[in-house]
Amino acid sequence: MRSILVLNGPNINMLGIREPAIYGRETYEALLAYIQSAADALGVQVECVQSNSEGALVTAIQQAYGRMDGIVINPAAYTHTSVAILDALKAVALPAVEVHLSAVETREAFRQVSYAGMACEKTITGKGFAGYKEALEYLAQKS
Ligand code: DQA
Repeated sequence: MRSILVLNGPNINMLGIREPAIYGRETYEALLAYIQSAADALGVQVECVQSNSEGALVTAIQQAYGRMDGIVINPAAYTHTSVAILDALKAVALPAVEVHLSAVETREAFRQVSYAGMACEKTITGKGFAGYKEALEYLAQKS
């Protein structure tokens, strides 16, 4: 696999400011640098997109069709609400991995459903930035 879309949903741009006890003190810019160096080490190209809008995330998934080989997605709060993101992932049918910085399974009841996850081959939670690296490694080893 050579090119991977890394998609982050709402409020991920607020990393470093938002709820540091849950999401840590590192910024979104630091996450981007981390993802880039993980991608460089694996020899894959990454395109990183963050949006606070559900429609923009759907469009980014659609635009990956025919252009990218896989998707790493942290849909953030839309994880738990968005059938549109689930349908977009199903539409493009690219191998996808769901990542959450926090251990969503230990959190509120409303975080226990993941629509996007239903279209993902793998879900990684609670590993912070390292979850994105694990997701890239998983996709990179696919043919
Ligand atoms: C999150 C978990 C979601 O429940 C939450 O709405 C987020 C971030 C995570 O990375 O842990 O915004 O996706």
